Amino acid sequence: MVICICRRINDEGVREAVRSGARCPDSVQAHHGQVFNCGRCRCAIGDIICEEVDRGQDQEVTLVAAE
Ligand code: FES
Repeated sequence: MVICICRRINDEGVREAVRSGARCPDSVQAHHGQVFNCGRCRCAIGDIICEEVDRGQDQEVTLVAAE
């Protein structure tokens, strides 16, 4: 699903940026060599960042519990 229409960044592109360390919408744009145009995607990118960070923390908790 396309998240940023202006810069053609889809949800997987946002997730990839987060896995590479992006933790804010501007960093996601920068990961793709872009900057915001209209900015309407900012909240949607933020939501995906939260989902990915939460998912990563869940995996860490699972790994620690398994040790
Ligand atoms: S939709 Fe992302 S900058 Fe316009």
